[in-house]
Amino acid sequence: MTITNNKAAQRQEPDNPYALIGSSQLMKQVYRLISKVLHSEANILLTGETGTGKELVARAIHEYGHRRTQPFVVQNCASLPDGLLESELFGYKKGAFTGADRNHLGMFDAAHNGILFLDEIGDLPLILQAKLLRVLQEQEIRPLGDTQYHKINVRVIAATHRNLEEMVALGEFRSDLYYRLAHFPIELPPLREREGDIKKLAYSFLREIAMRERRGEMRLSAAAEKALQNYDFPGNVRELKSMIERAILLADDTDTIECHHFPNIQGVISPESSPVHGGMLKELVDHYERQVLIESLKKHHGNQKNTAIALGVARRTLLYKLSKHNINSRNWRA
Ligand SMILES: Nc1ncnc2c1ncn2[C@@H]1O[C@H](COP(=O)(O)OP(=O)(O)OP(=O)(O)O)[C@@H](O)[C@H]1O
Ligand SMILES: [Mg+2]
Repeated sequence: MTITNNKAAQRQEPDNPYALIGSSQLMKQVYRLISKVLHSEANILLTGETGTGKELVARAIHEYGHRRTQPFVVQNCASLPDGLLESELFGYKKGAFTGADRNHLGMFDAAHNGILFLDEIGDLPLILQAKLLRVLQEQEIRPLGDTQYHKINVRVIAATHRNLEEMVALGEFRSDLYYRLAHFPIELPPLREREGDIKKLAYSFLREIAMRERRGEMRLSAAAEKALQNYDFPGNVRELKSMIERAILLADDTDTIECHHFPNIQGVISPESSPVHGGMLKELVDHYERQVLIESLKKHHGNQKNTAIALGVARRTLLYKLSKHNINSRNWRA
């Protein structure tokens, strides 16, 4: 658990709203959604692939919202065994179970009047889902071993990289909890679909990390820039940041980052210059297949049925390929 108690409101930078970097249309839509929930009490569900900035957005909603002077408490629902997670969330009374030798304040109490960020909510076991639903409905909790409920005032922001709708369909996630959390969903787009943001983020990380490493001003060569633009970033912004970090260390004798300072994307981005060997062909074919799927989904506004017809494959095959490439067709729905 981490608790932040922010005293000062952050100033709004017009270029980096909420201190987030990116000015693509998809990110502007995210900023619009953030502005709508900042001063409301709605619970929020943040979805998106790994590394897209869900935690950063949750923190921004806290720092720029009206609860900013109150605590921001983080709990990762995937990191603890069920029993421990329950006592962390709801707290317990001395003597509630063997080893409970003192009262323990739960996260809901720690986040009173502030925000509780429940990360990896898709990993919350069903039994705790029922308890969480009750807390959200009644705004009251009962610590383990206590006989009384007491009122709390907590805004919940939940996040997951998993597809909760699919989990609901499979009976793995309660639909009533899903609808309560998804009152205000915000989906963070994958980096590869944010037009222009790769370069912006890359330069921002370059400045930040070069300064930290006490290097002078650094730049990207035109080819390195292009290589980044063409790369898929399955790990999204987090991956870009660590690639820049590594590239700065590798480029210890120059202030210009070149393609070969990004060893993980060499093969995929410059097929002409590399011989086809050891898995290269598969990478190229996969890369091409992904592009075709995305183009076709764009053209058909995310409609899976029409996309499958246009590509001449069964809908089941399309679903399999979308899941294989981690593509979410909803990103292109009108
Ligand atoms: N728009 C952005 N501007 C600047 N930095 C960003 C942005 N989005 C993400 N980052 C950075 O990328 C990294 C990953 O972000 P974050 O931890 O919020 O992702 P996440 O969606 O919670 O990932 P996961 O699902 O793996 O937990 C962090 O270092 C964060 O600061
Ligand atoms: Mg996260």
